[in-house]
Amino acid sequence: MPHIFTVLGARPQFIKAAPVSRAIAKEGMTEVIAHTGQHFDALMSDVFFDELDIPKPAYNLEVNSLGHAAMTGRMLEKLEEAMLAEAPDIILIYGDTNSTIAGALAGAKLNIPVAHVEAGLRSFNRRMPEEINRVVADHVSALLFCPTQTAVRNLAAEGLTKGIHAVGDVMFDTTLAAVKRAEGRSTIIETHGLKPGSYAVATIHRAENTDDPERFLHVMDWLEEAARMRRIVMPVHPRTRKLLVSRGLTLEGLTLIDPIGYLDMARLLSQSAAVYTDSGGLQKEAYFHRVPCVTLRDETEWVETIEAGWNRLWTSKTYAPRRDITDYGTGDAAAKIARALQHAL
Ligand code: UD1
Repeated sequence: MPHIFTVLGARPQFIKAAPVSRAIAKEGMTEVIAHTGQHFDALMSDVFFDELDIPKPAYNLEVNSLGHAAMTGRMLEKLEEAMLAEAPDIILIYGDTNSTIAGALAGAKLNIPVAHVEAGLRSFNRRMPEEINRVVADHVSALLFCPTQTAVRNLAAEGLTKGIHAVGDVMFDTTLAAVKRAEGRSTIIETHGLKPGSYAVATIHRAENTDDPERFLHVMDWLEEAARMRRIVMPVHPRTRKLLVSRGLTLEGLTLIDPIGYLDMARLLSQSAAVYTDSGGLQKEAYFHRVPCVTLRDETEWVETIEAGWNRLWTSKTYAPRRDITDYGTGDAAAKIARALQHAL
């Protein structure tokens, strides 16, 4: 029976893995999960395993809160050990974090085929750690699962044309499942006394926005300005929380809350009037809920959201004419991935 070794570590990876793990089990394959430990708070990790029914990790590597080299290096060493013990047929990695690149390198060096979910995304900004992680992960992977046609073209431009599968976006699969589950289980709207359609949701966590103090203040000013128009609810990432506390910043018009689970986020988004974010995932989720988004970055990998008029960069004042995006699929991306894995083995 085909045996799959999945590497997870950060919040967006748990969200992407949920439907794929279900589909892998359905195809009759076995899966073992290694959690690198990159995200370790209950609100950044455990809640997703519980709410999204992700199988319990067999390996907890507990590598976190380190610089890029130390984090990736320690993960590599521990992942190699676990991979040798499991002798899997395939290594499955997600997205663009330090956990992704560690899984990709550990697997490729052991000559185990690596499968990358969310392959081919590019911001063309090599100052982002995520861009380095994406490029390296794609180039050592044997199977490249692309969410969009743009991603397929990006890979072709780098000479990658084998093992490419345009499957759609697994996050759409997760959203469809979450919307159903959130009904009756999430009380976030009531808890914060929100009026549907009258508030915005914001998240800020990217290194490019938090590492440079001047830029961070600029982003926070932008949010305070936006909050004059409508109330903003902002679940705060631990790194952003640390910065706000260390600078003694209070943000007028913003309701700052702890990080929230996926069901609460689905319900919060579904009733919101706008999304302001530097997260890749949230840009798409805004579209899934048909809520307009402003991306607080100077470029985005999710160019379809911009072209289809649901998203704009903060450097631009207007949205393109609105239309639907067909690339993301119909919620069957995970099933397509599981079938392709089965077929490859
Ligand atoms: C990582 C990814 C980023 C992704 C994001 C999702 C990399 C290079 N970046 O960034 O692409 O969008 O995850 O959230 O891999 N921390 C806690 N508790 C936690 C998690 C983090 O306190 O549960 C703290 C860490 O100690 C660290 C900071 O937050 O000081 C940043 O965490 P880190 O894992 O380095 O990266 P993220 O910013 O979360």
